[in-house]
Amino acid sequence: MTIHSILKMGDARLLRVARPVQVFDTPELRQLVQDMYDTMHHASGAGLSAPQIGVDLQVVVFGSDKPNPRYPQRPMVPPTVLINPVVVPMGSDTEMDWEGCLSLPGLRGKVPRWKRIQYSGFDLQGHPIAREAEGFHARVVQHECDHLFGILYPMRMQDFTQFGFTEVLFPEMASVQDD
Ligand code: NI
Repeated sequence: MTIHSILKMGDARLLRVARPVQVFDTPELRQLVQDMYDTMHHASGAGLSAPQIGVDLQVVVFGSDKPNPRYPQRPMVPPTVLINPVVVPMGSDTEMDWEGCLSLPGLRGKVPRWKRIQYSGFDLQGHPIAREAEGFHARVVQHECDHLFGILYPMRMQDFTQFGFTEVLFPEMASVQDD
């Protein structure tokens, strides 16, 4: 079990466009995904991208079998490893909701996202994944896949009056550490 430190906003490695994975199901890729899960669970994240631990590859993990203490009211998202993802909006509806990011600890902002998406990519073994998602699930996927293009959620925000410290915005969540 290896827990990596998570790069914080301001680190130039978070701004790179990540490289696609060329070869699947290698020991190195399995180790990367395991480390990403361990790091995500340690930080109670809803998702994590490889660039956030300094790895320049198109790999994201998200979802959980258990409710997330950082997002206790949110619907569950199936645990997923998604490699070389493609996200396509379904329709033109967008919605605003609060997001946090392990690369911006202690902060939340209201971010517009596509309400419904199709996403595709590959699992660890190289099997294709193709799903439709909406709401929180769609939001998590869009957030994580943005990391692969060097985009952090404040770069999607339109209204910075809706941005601040979690402990101020949501005092009831003060017990949730390590945002
Ligand atoms: Ni993030």
